[in-house]
Amino acid sequence: MLVSAKEMLTKAKEGHYAVGQFNINNLEWTKAVLLTAEEMKSPVILGVSEGAGKYMCGFKTVADMVKAMIDELKITVPVALHLDHGSYEGCYKCIEAGFSSIMFDGSHYPIEENVAKTQELVKVCEEKGLSLEAEVGSIGGEEDGVIGMGECADPNECKMIADLGVTMLAAGIGNIHGKYPENWAGLSFDTLAAVSEKVGKMPLVLHGGTGIPEDMIKKAISLGVSKINVNTECQLAFAAATRAYVEAGKDLQGKGFDPRKLLAPGVEAIKATVKEKMELFGSVGKA
Ligand code: 13P
Repeated sequence: MLVSAKEMLTKAKEGHYAVGQFNINNLEWTKAVLLTAEEMKSPVILGVSEGAGKYMCGFKTVADMVKAMIDELKITVPVALHLDHGSYEGCYKCIEAGFSSIMFDGSHYPIEENVAKTQELVKVCEEKGLSLEAEVGSIGGEEDGVIGMGECADPNECKMIADLGVTMLAAGIGNIHGKYPENWAGLSFDTLAAVSEKVGKMPLVLHGGTGIPEDMIKKAISLGVSKINVNTECQLAFAAATRAYVEAGKDLQGKGFDPRKLLAPGVEAIKATVKEKMELFGSVGKA
């Protein structure tokens, strides 16, 4: 079922677990994530960055593919199709294309402008029954051209945005997209606790899920994180499995060059990564 992320995240917040957002890049990725969610009886959020949307021939192609796949694969668990780090224009394109959830990343605007644009989108999303994620502070590193300095969020600004009626809020707490550097200081739990206190029941989102140690993930969930985004880790797992297949010369044996065979180990690696994360986040059996 394609649904907004509201109900699954409200339940996650109440039940003290998190729903994973797994970014998709192509048909194989989408199928791997959907099948794993069904197998695990877990709600799931499919994340699409603007860059990945363009790569997959536009948001409409993505939305139509996801809807058809949910139908053909008989997926019964709740699935949200979510724009990741959307620009103002990108949000409207995804609403039009049939996404069930969007993120407006206004974190690089002055707070007044972030508030104004988010407020406008709250109204549009409410009318259409979509969930809306907003961002305060920034996620460090780079993802598909979106670059952040990684400033921790100001809890008062978080409250301003949360009070607008968004569904979920991403607050920068020292998290970074991509691999964490050796000298990473870790998540700022002081910031997370202060934000959590200010925003009450609002589900919080932890971006940069790749490579965060298990104990930090668990602590973040205990402090109100209900959605965790993972992208790079699936890409690394896919690339390593594909490399192993090719380096073992399997593409040269029989019909090993057939894309359905060549891509199969990578797909299995994505499934294993998603499964592991769902277990860690506590969303297994929560569909
Ligand atoms: P990673 O690529 O670090 O897992 O981050 C994913 C993310 O936050 C998507 O918005």
